[in-house]
Amino acid sequence: MIRKKEEERLFICKPCGYVMKESELTDVCPACGLPRKVFEQYKERMSPGRSRILQLDLHPIAVHFPQTLLVFTLLALIMNLIFPHFYPQVFLGTATFSAVLFPFTVFGAFLSGLIDGKLRFKSVTTPILVKKIIYSSIMFISSIFTPFIAWGGIHDLSAKLWLLVCGSVALYCAIMLGHAGKRLMNIGMGGATKIWGWKI
Ligand code: HEM
Repeated sequence: MIRKKEEERLFICKPCGYVMKESELTDVCPACGLPRKVFEQYKERMSPGRSRILQLDLHPIAVHFPQTLLVFTLLALIMNLIFPHFYPQVFLGTATFSAVLFPFTVFGAFLSGLIDGKLRFKSVTTPILVKKIIYSSIMFISSIFTPFIAWGGIHDLSAKLWLLVCGSVALYCAIMLGHAGKRLMNIGMGGATKIWGWKI
């Protein structure tokens, strides 16, 4: 994320987009290795308010919570299915705990994504963002089932398999969301925008 410093000029490597302070410029770009002459002065086109909120990285941070819980749920379940007598209470406890919290964190990622998208692109109806909304809705719907399955106890095989199915659907959506999100990182439209009536 690019932090604007009033007192020092920033430079951007035109071919790869790496941004650095003037005092830190070296003979070659640290990211792509091209010579210094490819750098040009970088100008922040966003309003300071928008840029400040985006620099908090709310969405990139929020997405780590559902991703972590999803991996915990699936790994613990798979371990228990393969080795049913190896610390069953630990693995089933981990899967239950992660499955119960999972939908709340998906909702947080969804909300932060909408805010991030609106701030960056002024609209959330662009093709990639619509795709992200569809995948995250599917992920949210599949996540809603996980606490109900886990809460009833996941000791019988059918409950474990249902949890595995919901987790796998959510995992597929998470991968698609990550791919789409990666393409949007550090892009943004200039000028000010409005979010919930506030001009930023
Ligand atoms: C559960 C739902 C979601 C997940 C798991 C998710 C996942 C991700 C991931 C992994 C990234 C890349 C972040 C990184 O590499 O650090 C990303 C970026 C992004 N996502 Fe999402 N996403 C979700 C929902 C949404 C929604 C609903 C929108 C907007 C409609 C959205 C808009 C964006 C934008 C604009 C970026 C670029 C972020 C930045 O540079 O700050 N995401 N997302």
